[in-house]
Amino acid sequence: MENDMKDLLILGIESSCDETAASVIRGGREVLSNVISSQIALHTQYGGVVPELASRKHIENINGVIEQALLDAGVTLDDLDGIGVTYGPGLVGALLVGVAEAKAIAYAKGLPLVGVNHIEGHVCANLIEHADLEPPFLCLIVSGGHTHLARMKDYGDFEIIGRTRDDAAGEAFDKVARAIGLGYPGGPKIEKAARLGDPHAMEFPRGKVDGSPFDFSFSGMKSAVLNYLNQAQMKGETVKQEDVAASFQKAVIDVLVGRAIYAAKELGEDKLVMAGGVASNGALRAAMKEACEKEGIAFYYPSPIYCTDNAAMIGVAASYHYMKGRRDDWTLNAVPNLKLS
Ligand code: KG4
Ligand code: ZN
Repeated sequence: MENDMKDLLILGIESSCDETAASVIRGGREVLSNVISSQIALHTQYGGVVPELASRKHIENINGVIEQALLDAGVTLDDLDGIGVTYGPGLVGALLVGVAEAKAIAYAKGLPLVGVNHIEGHVCANLIEHADLEPPFLCLIVSGGHTHLARMKDYGDFEIIGRTRDDAAGEAFDKVARAIGLGYPGGPKIEKAARLGDPHAMEFPRGKVDGSPFDFSFSGMKSAVLNYLNQAQMKGETVKQEDVAASFQKAVIDVLVGRAIYAAKELGEDKLVMAGGVASNGALRAAMKEACEKEGIAFYYPSPIYCTDNAAMIGVAASYHYMKGRRDDWTLNAVPNLKLS
C-alpha cells in the first residue's frame, strides 16, 4: 500500500473540541503542514470548554487555518486528492463546523470526502514518526474524553479490549486540577506542579473494576482527592498543592502502566502504542517506557504536538481509509458519540 500512496495528498480537518486544525499529509504519513488554532485562552476564563463558544470560534477560524495549512505545505486545493475530516466523537456544534467545511470544499472541487473517527486519528498520530510501525498492535488511548485499551488489527479495524467505566483519564486530571486550584487545562498544570511534589506524600487508591481486568475507573481516585482536600480543610491543615498533584499523577500512572502491561502480557502483544492528550505527560511516558523495556515490549508514542488534538493525525487516518477505497457522500454528518468499533 505504501508504494501506491506515495504521492497521495490529503487535507485533514479537525474541529471536535477546542482546537481548530488543518494539515496536509503526503504519502500517508508525511506531514507537509500542521496548523492548530487553540481556543485555550478563551475557555480558560470559564474553567473549561464552553461548547457554544467553541463552535463560534471554529467558524471564525476554520477558513484561515485551512488557508495557512495549504500555504505552509506549498499546495493549492487543486493539488489535493481528497479531504479527511473528524465527524465524531466530540461536541456536536464543533464537529459540524469541520464537517460542513470539508463537504463544501469537496463539493466545490470535486474531491473525495473521508470521515474520520477522532479516536482512530489519535492512534494514527503514531504512524507519523514511526516509519516502521504497522498494525496489528495494542493501543492505550488516553484523552480528555476517552480511555480505551484497544487492538488495532488493521488500518481502520479496531477491537476494544477495555475502557473506562466512568471518567476519562484526562477528565480526572482536569477535575483534580480544578479542585486544587490549578485551573484549566488540568493535565499540563498537574504535570508541572507534580515535578515539585512528593509522589508518595498521599496514597490515593488505584481504581480498578472487579471482574474486568482491562477496564478503568478514575472517578473514585478523583473523589479520594476531593475527600482528602475536604478533610484537610475541616482540620485547618494546609495542603501542599504540589504533593497532591504528584501523588494523584503517580496513582493514575500506576493504573495506566499496570493495566496496559497486564493486557499486553495476557494477550501476547509485543507492540504497545500510546495516544491522546494524556500521552504527552512526561512522567507517564517515562514510566511506560521503563515497564515496556523490562517486559520486552516495543513501545511507541507520538511527539507531544501529535498527542493533543491536531489535524495531521486525521489526515493520516483518512489517507489509509482513502487507499482502502472508503468514501463518504454528502450525507456525512457529525456523530457526537461515535464509537471506535
Ligand atoms: O486528546 P486531547 O487533546 O483531546 C481529547 O480528545 O479529549 O486530550 C485533552 C486531555 C485534557 O484532559 C488534558 O488535561 C489532557 O489531555 N492532557 C494531559 C497533558 N496534556 C494534556 N494530561 C496529563 N498530562 C499532560 N501533560
Ligand atoms: Zn482528542
